[in-house]
Amino acid sequence: MLKKISLLLEEVASFSPKSKKETEDFRVLFLGKKGHLNSLFASFKEVPNDQKKEFGQSINKLKQSVLDKLENYKSAFEEIEGKLEIDLTRPVVLSNMGSRHPLSIVENKIVEIFKKIGYTISEGPEIEDDWHNFSALNLPADHPARDMQDTFFIQTNPDILLRTHTSSVQVRHMEKNKPPIRTLSPGRVYRNEAISARAHCIFHQIEGLYINESVSFADLKQTLLYFAKEMFGEKTKIRLRPSYFPFTEPSAEVDVSCNICNQKGCNVCKGTGYLEILGCGMVDPNVLENCKIDSKKYTGFAFGMGIERIAMLKYGVNDLRLFYENDVRFLNQFSSI
Ligand code: DAH
Repeated sequence: MLKKISLLLEEVASFSPKSKKETEDFRVLFLGKKGHLNSLFASFKEVPNDQKKEFGQSINKLKQSVLDKLENYKSAFEEIEGKLEIDLTRPVVLSNMGSRHPLSIVENKIVEIFKKIGYTISEGPEIEDDWHNFSALNLPADHPARDMQDTFFIQTNPDILLRTHTSSVQVRHMEKNKPPIRTLSPGRVYRNEAISARAHCIFHQIEGLYINESVSFADLKQTLLYFAKEMFGEKTKIRLRPSYFPFTEPSAEVDVSCNICNQKGCNVCKGTGYLEILGCGMVDPNVLENCKIDSKKYTGFAFGMGIERIAMLKYGVNDLRLFYENDVRFLNQFSSI
């Protein structure tokens, strides 16, 4: 019997709980109704009289050590719980995570749509030379259409400029690659324009280019219809209006049906039911030849669109400047997309 008590004493001495629950289990094991102490007290009457004194003292010692242990750990856990008001097992709430910029969201979406039909990505420099930004694109010096793009030149060298459009990347890509070519060129462009709700001196474009044998205007139209439906919804319609760009012949501007008013006419589409989204056309044979591509064998189409414009239409943003102010109240609205 005394041996049993000394074993229990050892057990109490080595007990070190890791939680409040373990402490409670320990209490029940020793002090509970069917616990060790009660059963030891119950066996007291079987102990020979001459040993009763020693036995009694041992039981009391055991009981005291259990009570001391409990007192120690009870206060230790209460202290921890009082200090830590957080539950360490709860999932973390990512309250201040950054989010993608709306222009990146739109750019990624456009890239994703064209990647599905085999387009690769190509990039070019923002500081460009005259050849790639103008001359190779059928805009020789003194061509009046150069005035369409208010150019920032680098210091006094009229040959070096900030690219005014991503069409320059078409030229670079065609110079280095043989048809078939199917490429998309996103990037930043610069124009010397007064900043307003509808214009900025820095903005973003995506250029598309497809060159192969017997590419037709019907291919262009079908590609753009596919894009418009993927971007703005299955019910979207497109409309092509004849236009002029020096690097394409024939050229067109493309409108998509206004899904804000379902073509009933609203102030966004100015009552027309359509919104202009891009310029396009069949690549002028002169441009192909400038890039050493045989214009008798190959034809192709190109298109170019402003990312800000698409983002404004998609999200109903009415002031272009909001994209550059970095106001978190504006940017946070795109965090869940
Ligand atoms: N580069 C033109 C612009 O900045 C957009 C454009 C129009 C690109 C027609 C094209 C195109 O590739 O075919 O306004």
